Amino acid sequence: MTLSPQWLDELRSRTTLSSLIAQSVKLTRAGREYKACCPFHNEKSPSFTVNDEKGFYHCFGCSAHGDAISWMTEQRGLGFMDAVKELADAAGMDVPAPDPRAAKQAERAKTLRDVTEAAARWFSDELGGNDGAEARAYLQKRGISDQTRRRFGFGFAPDSRGRLKQALNAFPDAMLVEAGMLIKVDDKDSYDRFRGRLMIPIRDPRGRVIAFGGRILGAGEPKYLNSPDTPLFDKGRTLYNLDLASPASRQTDRIIVAEGYMDVVALAQAGIADAVAPLGTALTEQQIQLLWRMVPVPLLCFDGDAAGQKAAMRAAHRALPLLRPGYSLAFVTLPEGQDPDDVVTAGGSRAFEALLDQAEPLVDRLWNHEVGALPLDTPEQRAGLKQRLGEIAANIAHADVAAHYRAAFRDRYDAMFFAPKSDRGGHDARHRRASGNKWRPDPSLIPPHARTRVIGGTGLEGQLADAVLAGLLRYPDKIREHAEELASLHLAEPGSAALIADMIDAALREESLDRERLVTILAQGKGYHRAKALLRADAMHFSFTRDAPQASIGDDAVEAPDLRPLRDLDEAIAAMVAWPEIDAALRAATERASRALDEESYAAQQRLREMKAELTRRLGDLMQSDA
Ligand code: UTP
Ligand code: MN
Repeated sequence: MTLSPQWLDELRSRTTLSSLIAQSVKLTRAGREYKACCPFHNEKSPSFTVNDEKGFYHCFGCSAHGDAISWMTEQRGLGFMDAVKELADAAGMDVPAPDPRAAKQAERAKTLRDVTEAAARWFSDELGGNDGAEARAYLQKRGISDQTRRRFGFGFAPDSRGRLKQALNAFPDAMLVEAGMLIKVDDKDSYDRFRGRLMIPIRDPRGRVIAFGGRILGAGEPKYLNSPDTPLFDKGRTLYNLDLASPASRQTDRIIVAEGYMDVVALAQAGIADAVAPLGTALTEQQIQLLWRMVPVPLLCFDGDAAGQKAAMRAAHRALPLLRPGYSLAFVTLPEGQDPDDVVTAGGSRAFEALLDQAEPLVDRLWNHEVGALPLDTPEQRAGLKQRLGEIAANIAHADVAAHYRAAFRDRYDAMFFAPKSDRGGHDARHRRASGNKWRPDPSLIPPHARTRVIGGTGLEGQLADAVLAGLLRYPDKIREHAEELASLHLAEPGSAALIADMIDAALREESLDRERLVTILAQGKGYHRAKALLRADAMHFSFTRDAPQASIGDDAVEAPDLRPLRDLDEAIAAMVAWPEIDAALRAATERASRALDEESYAAQQRLREMKAELTRRLGDLMQSDA
């Protein structure tokens, strides 16, 4: 009988080769591999290696080489089917019943691949030809170079119902339909599936084209049209760009998961080659297993908006039953409304890597999400949090991993609610601070992710962040005073993020910090560049971003220090902390009001609108204060 390559891949990925081999050979760990004296020939010093990530063993002495299945046949002497059955048993998989069609299907897969490969060549020629001008212009507009275009095999499907069908008429119609290239409804004539679209070939792990994503040029619905599942293409078991990202990940020890094709392409163009994407669906178990064959902790990137964060939680929950020692996920939250493509296009690979540096481990992402999900003011609400955390841990199948999650959650929970009053941080502290800042909206209006909101950008919000940083450089005492609030912000601009982290560090370490001392300390860190730029930037119109004449003690007439810059800076910091929260609360309220417009939701929305207008007005005042 014939087993499908997908099924065999799945079997291999569910088998940990080192554990299998360790049943009969004593292995010792050596970096990412295991070593042993070769069981296939006689030797005294170990030249036999086992690599779990690649799923094979290799002997440098006698060249014995194979995977889990060949281990069972070569070393244990089992027949192929017996080997497969035993491995499947251990992995908890059912061996599919013999299927006479399966053999034919494997045969057909080979020829269907000829169809997709031929289609890819034709699309690519079209992109280069006369009809491809608009698509080429589109790529250029998006900043995609010719080199990238060739590397990813981009093509163009002209806006016609029959050109592909005609071009590939060497293949029978039925085959073109089965490969997903033509659509056939009932007994009507078949026609080209992809029309007037930029074509992105989807490749299998060996780099062969098996399907396509087709993007509309410009606006329109649906934005992407993808090949249907075919004997070649199983969406849930495919990762876009795996063939190129996998070798790259061996160099970097990292694998990045973005949400879209174009993210992967833009990242690669920016020099980040170790990125893949699922195909428009939530990450599946099989995709998580594929990622774990490359690295133990893949980095998943999601938009900071509500939809992105929901997708992040879906991936987190899907991983729970699969977790095993050493294997996890980490989460990168992108600035709201931006995808990796936007980030590298605006700030290059450095901007993106700065975000990767802030990736949250799975345990943190789950904790932060649950803590932010619902209010925690009453004993019942707090007990509810504990219950939700318990349910999460209960979904982890591996006993040791589950025990550590329970312990981590318990420690954090106790520290939050049962720690001695004096050093109680967390939620209560958050509320105390919230009430001290007149700009901050009612905490119950702030949706869960507002706290991880990134601030920055080109608008007023970005100007405000720059001005506050510039003010803090001039009045370093204010850093310590506002350290907690400042630390809770994520600044979008990587230079600024590094700078503020260094400033907080310096202020907490040194009791009294003047401007010169601060600048000396900063000179050793990553944010120094930004600091120098900000100290020069006298174009900002705040009282606290200009150099005040410094009175010295020895002066005859000691002028009363001008307190205005300090007061203005306090207010600007309060505004900066409140801004993303008001924004997020307003968006949430608007969304609520759009679902059910009642008096209460309307009032909440109005209140927030006014707050935002007032805040904007006030910032305007601060800015023009003596212009
Ligand atoms: P995005 O809309 O984030 O894709 O959808 P993108 O790659 O950033 O697209 P650009 O930058 O606008 O070109 C993420 C992924 O979801 C799938 C695709 O796989 C896409 O890459 N998708 C999206 C679809 O399958 N169909 C759609 O209509 C939209
Ligand atoms: Mn995009």
